[in-house]
Amino acid sequence: MASGKHFKYIVLGGGVSGGYAAREFAKQGVQPGELAIISKEAVAPYERPALSKAYLFPQSPARLPGFHVCVGSGGERLLPEWYSEKGIELILSTEIVKADLPSKTLTSAAGATFTYEILLIATGSSVIKLSDFGTQGADSNNILYLREIDDADNLYAAIQAKKGGKAVVVGGGYIGLELSAVLKMNDLDVTMVFPEPWCMPRLFTAEIAAFYESYYTNKGVKILKGTIAVGFDADANGDVCTAPKSEFSSAVLIAVKLKDGSVLEADIVVVGVGGRPLTTLFKGQVAEEKGGIKTDAFFETSVPGVYAVGDVATFPMKIYNDERRVEHVDHSRKSAEQAVKAIKGKEAGSAVEEYDYLPYFYSRSFDLSWQFYGDNVGDAILFGDADPGSAKPKFGSYWVKDGKCVGAFLEGGSPDENAAIAKLARAQLPAASPDELKAAGLQFASKI
Ligand code: FDA
Ligand code: NAD
Repeated sequence: MASGKHFKYIVLGGGVSGGYAAREFAKQGVQPGELAIISKEAVAPYERPALSKAYLFPQSPARLPGFHVCVGSGGERLLPEWYSEKGIELILSTEIVKADLPSKTLTSAAGATFTYEILLIATGSSVIKLSDFGTQGADSNNILYLREIDDADNLYAAIQAKKGGKAVVVGGGYIGLELSAVLKMNDLDVTMVFPEPWCMPRLFTAEIAAFYESYYTNKGVKILKGTIAVGFDADANGDVCTAPKSEFSSAVLIAVKLKDGSVLEADIVVVGVGGRPLTTLFKGQVAEEKGGIKTDAFFETSVPGVYAVGDVATFPMKIYNDERRVEHVDHSRKSAEQAVKAIKGKEAGSAVEEYDYLPYFYSRSFDLSWQFYGDNVGDAILFGDADPGSAKPKFGSYWVKDGKCVGAFLEGGSPDENAAIAKLARAQLPAASPDELKAAGLQFASKI
C-alpha cells in the first residue's frame, strides 16, 4: 500500500479541469515531483464532451488517446507520457474518500494518504440517479447513466448488443438530446421522455425547443413531454436487476412505466436527469454557496491554499455581479487556468486579473450545432430560418434585458458568426426594438 506521499500541489480530480490545470502548471513552471493529479478514473484527463457524441458514433467512434486534453480547445494532446516527461505524477484509479483540510491530508479508498501544501479541488459532478427519487426498479443494471468513460463503454456495449432495438431516454436536457441523437444514428428506435413542456428548458425558449423537437421527430425520435418514468420492470425473460452491467442479453426487455399510466418497452434505458457537484468530501470544511464550493475571483475557497474549479465552484460572475456555478467545459478549462495562474502569481508576488467570465455553452447533435453566449434572461427574440425542414437551417435568439442585449444563441453559425454573437453578449449593447432585432437578425451582431 502506497501511503504517506507528499506533494507541493495536488489536483483532486483528473477530468477536464484537472488536465487544463496540469497544462497551466507546466506552463508556469513546476519542478518534477511537485504536482500530482489524483483521479478515480483509470485514464489521463480527457475531453469529457466526446463521451456523448463521437465516442458513440456508429462509424469510426472516437477513442483515447484521440481526445485527451487539451485537443478540445485546439491545444496539444496531453498523453500519459506528457505527465511523466514533466515530472507530474498521475495517480489514477484512486478514489479519495476522506479529505481533512486542517491537516492537509487526503485518504484514498485503499488507505493511502497524500499530503499537500496547495489543493485544487476539481471533482466535477456525479449523475443524479432515478433511485435518488425512489423510482421503483431504478437500480437495475440495465438502466444506464453517462458521466465517465466507463459509463460510455457500458453504453457503447449496450448499443452494439441491441442494434435495431428500442431505447428510452429519460431526461430532456443536454444528455437527453445528445444521446437521443446518437442512439438514433445507431439505428435504435428512440423515445425521449421528460417532464417539462419542452426540451432543454434551462436554456431554450419554447420557440428554440420547437425547432429541435421537430428536427428530432423528423429523424424518427419519438418525444413524450410532460411525463416522467415512475418505475421499471423486467419482463418474464430476465431479471435485469441481477444482470452484470456488461451483459446485455437480447432476451431482456425493460418495461418503463410512465406517470401517465402508459408503458414503454426498452432494450436500453439511458437516464440524464441532471448532475450534482461532488462537494461531499469537503462538507463543513469550506464555505458553500448555491450548491457549490464558494470561491473568490481566483478560485480560492474560504480555506487559504485550497482552490476549487470547474463544476464544483460557485464563483463571482463579474459581468452580472452575481455568484454562479457553471457546469460546462469552457468554464472548467478557464477556471483551472485562472486558479493555477493565481497560485503561481501569489508565489511570485505578481498580480493576476480577476476572472471575468462570459458564459459559453454549446451542443452538437445530428448535423446540428449551436452556441450560446451570455445570459438567457429578459425577453427572447427569435430570428432567422428556424424551419427544421430547411436544407441548412440557421437561426438564433437574442435575450434583451433592461434595453440591453445580454445573451445570444445561434444554430448553424460559422466561426465568425459565433464570434460575433460572443462579442455582442460581452458588450451588452443597447438593443433595437424587438421588430428591428428580428428583421436585422445576425446582422445586428455582425456589425459590432
Ligand atoms: P470532470 O467531471 O470533468 O472531472 C472530475 C474528475 O474528478 C473525474 O475524473 C472524477 O472521476 C474525479 N473525481 C471525482 N471525485 C473524486 C474523488 N473523490 N477521488 C478521485 N477522483 C475523483 N460541456 C460543454 O460545454 N459542452 C459539451 O458538449 C459537454 N458535453 C458533455 C458530455 C457529457 C457526457 C458530460 C458528462 C458532460 C459534458 N459537458 C459538456 C460538461 C463538461 O464536461 C463538464 O462541465 C466538465 O467536464 C467539468 O469539468 P470538471 O473538471 O469540473 O469535472
Ligand atoms: P440537465 O440539467 O441538462 O437536464 C436534466 C433534465 O432532466 C431536465 O431538463 C429534465 O428534462 C429532466 N428531468 C428531471 N427530472 C426528471 C425525471 N424525474 N424524469 C425525467 N426527466 C427528468 O442535465 P443532464 O442532461 O443530465 O446533464 C448532466 C450534466 O452534464 C450537466 O452538468 C450538463 O451541463 C452536462 N452536459 C453538458 C453538455 C453540453 O454542455 N453540451 C452535454 C452533456 C452533458
